[in-house]
Order: sequence, then C-alpha cells, then structure tokens
Amino acid sequence: MPAPDTRAPFAALGGVLPPALAALPTPCYLLDEGALARNAEVLGALAQRTGCKVLLAQKAFSNYDLYPLLAPHLAGTEASGLYEARLGAEEMPGKEVHVFCAAYRADEMPELLRWADHIVFNSPAQLAAFGPAAKAAGKSVGLRINPECSTQEGHALYDPCAPGSRLGTTRAQWDAALAADPALADLLDGLHFHTLCEQDADALALTLDAVAEKFGDLLPRMQWLNFGGGHHITRPGYDLATLERCIARAQRAWGVQVYLEPGEACALNAGYLLARVLDVVQNGAATIAILDASAACHMPDVLEMPYRPPLLGAGEPGEKPYTVRLAGPTCLAGDVIGDYSFDAPPAVGDLLAFGDMAIYTTCKNNTFNGMPLPAIWARDAAGVCRELVRFGYADFKRRLGS
Ligand SMILES: Cc1ncc(COP(=O)(O)O)c(C=O)c1O
Repeated sequence: MPAPDTRAPFAALGGVLPPALAALPTPCYLLDEGALARNAEVLGALAQRTGCKVLLAQKAFSNYDLYPLLAPHLAGTEASGLYEARLGAEEMPGKEVHVFCAAYRADEMPELLRWADHIVFNSPAQLAAFGPAAKAAGKSVGLRINPECSTQEGHALYDPCAPGSRLGTTRAQWDAALAADPALADLLDGLHFHTLCEQDADALALTLDAVAEKFGDLLPRMQWLNFGGGHHITRPGYDLATLERCIARAQRAWGVQVYLEPGEACALNAGYLLARVLDVVQNGAATIAILDASAACHMPDVLEMPYRPPLLGAGEPGEKPYTVRLAGPTCLAGDVIGDYSFDAPPAVGDLLAFGDMAIYTTCKNNTFNGMPLPAIWARDAAGVCRELVRFGYADFKRRLGS
C-alpha cells in the first residue's frame, strides 16, 4: 500500500487512487464534486462576510452539469463573449451574467444584450460604439481599466499590465478619449480591472493602490468595482485577511459594490485527468512513458503556461528511485507532460491520475492529430462516479466539415 499523497490536488481522493477509478475509460476527466463544493463554500462565506459578490469566470471552468453545486454560493457567472454569456444565463438561471471582451462584434451585440446584465468594454471607442445601446437596454455598463501595475515578473504572457498591453484602458487613454467626447463618462456604471494570475492578496493590495492613484477620482461616481480574477482564494494558505481588507477599503473609500470573478479558485484542485501508459521507450539514459493522454490536446496549459501538473503518488525527478518522462502520443516532439519519479517503473497499462485538472482543460482541449476528446465524469462526495458526457468520431469530424 503506497503512502497517501498529501498534496492539495489529491486531498479529495484521500491521497490514493480509489480502486473504482480503474473501471473508468481513459483518457478521462474526473470532476470532484466534494472539492468543488468546498471551494464554493469558501467563496460564498467570503461574500457573506464582506458583502462582495463572487462570479464564476467560465473561461476556466464551464462544466455546467456541476453549476448547481456552485450556484448557491455565487452571485452569477462571468463570460468572455456571447456563448459563455448565454451558457451562464441558461445554466445558472436567475443569477447575474457579466461579460468582458477585448472587442465586441456589432452583429453579436443585440443577442449579447439579451443574456448579459453587466457589459464591460475594453476601450473608450468600444464604449462609445456600444455603450448607448447597452444602457438603453437597461444594462450596467463598465470600462476595463489598466492600472499599469505589473505584479507578476517574467510572465508577460499572463500580464495584462505588460508594456504595450491591449487589455484595459490606461488613464492617459481615458483622459484623451474624454477630452474628445466628455459624454463618455455618463455611460459608466462601474470599473473593472483584471491584472492577476494565480496570485495572493498582497498583489491585489498593490494593484488597488495603483487603481486608487490612477482612477480614484472616478470611483465615487461608480456603482461597482470589479476586481477581476487571478485571486487564488481557495489555495491552502491564501491570505484571506488581506483580501478582505482590500474589499473593505474599496467599499469604504468609494461606496462601490465589489465583484470578484475568479475562475481557477472556483474549481481549484477539483478534478483529475486519468490516463494509462501505452508504451515505455528507452532512449539513452531517458526512460519515456507514452500515455493515452496528451499535453497538447488535453492539458494545453502545460505547454502554454508552461507548468508541470501534479501526478498522484509521483515525486520530483530523482526524488524516488525511477525517473521517467511522461509524454503524449501525438506527433508534436514537445508533447511532453513532464519528468516524474516513481517507486516502481511505470508499466504498460498502469493508471495515472494528474491533479488540478478541472481548470482550463475541458474548456480548452482540442482534437489535434485526431486525438479523441476525453470523456467527462463526475465523482460525488461519497466517491460514486458517473459519466457526464462522452465524445466520439462524430464530434471530431463535425468540427472539420459538412
Ligand atoms: C477578465 C478576466 N476575468 C477573470 C479571469 C479568471 O482568472 P482566473 O481563472 O485566473 O481566476 C480572467 C482570466 O484570464 C480574465 O481575463
């Protein structure tokens, strides 16, 4: 019996692979309802204590079968465009729908106005183009600001405040737009910023200082301030007290309703990707296990971020006796998940469970090389698993032609 893996991504499994998982098809995403509900409770309790409203950013997690677990604790959903806005309206009925997009299409605006309650524009030009119609439709209108405060060094890909960023309006851009069209200010009900990525509340506190310095004069006229996502609120050790101080500061200083729209924090450590070993090859000193799951297709953030996903029971390279590179079966030479160490060498047919696989996976995967999309299963708090959806050849083919 292996020692339980005590890391957070495997806490809901008790740190071991339950024997029942051997019956599931691979590759397969397994969403953990107990972990999801616990995240939602943390977020709901935060909202209760502070008066802030918390939205699910659907770009990170949009497995709507499980929205009923989140809905009692959240104020609604956040969308990146028309489809997610509609999904939120349909699948979390009666809750708020907020949308932010870097640029809206004119032909989508009428339908978007049907689904969304809050519409956040990225630039003064988009605000001028669509703000009047949104207001006339009774929507709450916002502008995404860029407080020009980078808090994540070395991650330009994930830094909306990086020099030359297209995301959010700087104070200089706003002042220039307002000088040309003073009526723009009357369209605004709120401001929105999103500058963080997997960060603790100290980065938020710094950002809020920058928001106060750059946009503090506008905020007393606003009804709400949306702090965006990137708050790793449900991560063990997250500094909730500092977050709560930031929320209180905004409420006190500007009298605004504070919104948070975390994606990751809603579904953090609440899912697994199950995979099996198809082959083991030896190239010089390197032992490589080829799996039926692919980094490129099924966990694209592993290559994009990049990061090495946690694997149940496995150690850092060299930590345990057998170090093996785990890789996908596609043609991409870099379809490598990472190097891991094991107590025993992985063998063909072995079942592996990658952790923290509910976020930015099912909503981001693809069928490159004709790779099948993994089925999506859910595991309830009692450990009972059920299939939510499976995919086949027809799903692959339909996206490619008629
Ligand atoms: C505008 C906006 N809101 C919310 C989020 C969710 O961020 P996270 O999943 O890191 O909490 C993102 C992520 O990119 C975003 O761009």
